[in-house]
Amino acid sequence: MRDMGVDAAFIDRLVETFYGRVLTHPDLGPVFDAKLSGRWPEHMAKMKSFWSAVAFRSGAYGGKPVQAHTHVANLTPDLFPKWLSLFAATLDDIAPSPEAKAWFMATAERIAKSLVLSLFYNPALDDPKRKPA
Ligand code: HEM
Repeated sequence: MRDMGVDAAFIDRLVETFYGRVLTHPDLGPVFDAKLSGRWPEHMAKMKSFWSAVAFRSGAYGGKPVQAHTHVANLTPDLFPKWLSLFAATLDDIAPSPEAKAWFMATAERIAKSLVLSLFYNPALDDPKRKPA
């Protein structure tokens, strides 16, 4: 991480900058703010410890991301590509190196994919015995 230029100060800046932009995004902003209104400082602190835990394997974060998203109203699968585009644009502007951008994007894409599967995927739809709708 150090070789890529990633340190705790960068994680702070990434979280501050990204969620600042999330709030002004026409589709993402309202979904986040409806859930987090009045609780933004808590969310920001949680996201900093989450990314620190992933980047530095620090064990700083002990939450349950899937469960946290099951109670977010109007969370739809099409929002995830928008989240990832905004995250990529933020990293283009502030990542300390191309390697850092690549690492954060690969990690976010992997987590986004697993969140989408956990939240929206219904294995019954892939049952070969299922009758066509
Ligand atoms: C469109 C996509 C997404 C939306 C709308 C969304 C929205 C939210 C909201 C509203 C919360 C706060 C839940 C609460 O405290 O009540 C939250 C928490 C969180 N989100 Fe997301 N999220 C999205 C994608 C992601 C992705 C891609 C990641 C990881 C890369 C992520 C990681 C987290 C984590 C770690 C928490 C904290 C969970 C906890 O309480 O421990 N989210 N998200």
